[in-house]
Amino acid sequence: MTHPLEQLGNDALREIEAAPDEKALEAVRVRYLGRSGSVSVWGDQMKTLGKEERPVVGKLLNETRNAITAAIKERAETLRSEKESEARAGIDISLPGTPSEKGSLHPLTQILDRSIAIFRRMGFALADGPDIETEWHCFDALNTPPDHPARNEQDTFYLPDGRLLRTHTSTVQIRAMESAPPPLRVIAPGAAYRRDEIDATHSAQFHQIEGLYVDENVSVADLKGALEFFMRELFGPETAVRFRPHYFPFTEPSFEIDVRSKALKGGEQWIEVAGSGMVHPAVFEEVNKARGDDAYDPQKWTGYAFGLGMDRLAMILFDIPDIRLFAQNDLRFLKQFA
Ligand code: DAH
Repeated sequence: MTHPLEQLGNDALREIEAAPDEKALEAVRVRYLGRSGSVSVWGDQMKTLGKEERPVVGKLLNETRNAITAAIKERAETLRSEKESEARAGIDISLPGTPSEKGSLHPLTQILDRSIAIFRRMGFALADGPDIETEWHCFDALNTPPDHPARNEQDTFYLPDGRLLRTHTSTVQIRAMESAPPPLRVIAPGAAYRRDEIDATHSAQFHQIEGLYVDENVSVADLKGALEFFMRELFGPETAVRFRPHYFPFTEPSFEIDVRSKALKGGEQWIEVAGSGMVHPAVFEEVNKARGDDAYDPQKWTGYAFGLGMDRLAMILFDIPDIRLFAQNDLRFLKQFA
């Protein structure tokens, strides 16, 4: 004969199995396991049972309670996963996903990365300096006298405290020599600022890579070799490089550097891309004064320096007609270099 508790258990399991949703299942749970549910009522009645019957019924009661609890848990799990797959049934997993927009490097960043990589192969280390500079770093230390036109208020952005936005990255030459004795071989990529009339080839902010090499017996031949190698790596082996005598206060002799390459648009014409020269002894002397030693003794050390116009290099390499395009953030332009 089945014990009424077994009967109760079987009824419960059947109802659990039949519960169509979570709400119905919860109602079944309350009916059997709730405070005044059938199983609990049996528990309360235990004390009215005789000594022999009590352990038998107690065991049965435990088993029944455990079986019901387990069945409810299992049913809840089933209902939950049924609900999930129903929700998923509306999704077509074979549809293509939403494409994410892929970014790309700005053309100036690309040419900067390429240029830095070439100089690193030649043993140049990276140096850095602030965009907001002292007049001394920008001009005086670079042998540029107070009456030089570059120092004119109309040409340079001065701050109220007398500092300025550096008009060239040559400031980093001074900072590098202040912080380390020779030999020294550094490049310094960065922005420079001028109060230029803005047009297709002039921008108030532009970019340069400064280079400085100081050692014993550095000559113009070293300068020529390094920059010719650089230009040919960047523009191709057919690139011709021309050194044109020029004047810069901080170098003597000084040169402007032009390139010409069939690989470039307008291939047959010379294009100016850099200034360069042999570091002027007066620059070494000024650095020594700031250092308080004679580490850069011009009798012992010589050096070359150069400043490359990165915007110009990018414009001729990528055939970009207008410098303003670099700063306009127009995706139609930028996407062409992705
Ligand atoms: N600083 C110069 C400019 O912005 C470029 C330059 C010329 C840099 C000669 C140099 C150099 O290091 O030696 O026009």
